[in-house]
Amino acid sequence: ITTDMARRRIVLIGYRGTGKSSIGKALSSITGQVHIDTDQLIEDATGKKIPEIFESEGEAGFREIEQHVIARIPSGAGIISTGGGAVLHPENVRMLRMNSFVVLLTSKNEVIARRIAKTSRPSLTGQPPEKEIDTVLEERMPLYRSAADFVINTSSTSAKQAASLIL
Ligand code: S3P
Repeated sequence: ITTDMARRRIVLIGYRGTGKSSIGKALSSITGQVHIDTDQLIEDATGKKIPEIFESEGEAGFREIEQHVIARIPSGAGIISTGGGAVLHPENVRMLRMNSFVVLLTSKNEVIARRIAKTSRPSLTGQPPEKEIDTVLEERMPLYRSAADFVINTSSTSAKQAASLIL
């Protein structure tokens, strides 16, 4: 790990199920840097689970809290895993890119579908899960790409392999 790397933040962006949280944890254990998960910060700040926030405040309410939380992340070194929609707000992208190496994680849509089927995540479109992945990724991919310094496909890599590749 170079001195430059040790001073910079590594920010992971990408859709649900691409490995942002698990690769964030792997990067943190390899580098010894603190790991921050923006969804976790939101749950800690509100005392609610993400699906509950979507239910009570709607997606718009969730995005406001998300922006508030992202704006307050310290700019020093650390590993930051973001929620899949963090790039939707230009101010979030500006904050996340400061002093950071931004890594976009991608995976094949069917791999994403398989991974997120095991978890409970609020619907973003009201569409069936597989259709939703197609719709949302089509809209977000340009935002993800323009925010990223580096892209890796995690369809068939372990969290440890992906972390080593990033470092
Ligand atoms: C969202 C992704 C989720 C969470 C929220 C909204 C999204 O994070 O922030 O449910 O809009 O893609 P993960 O990407 O960690 O699942």
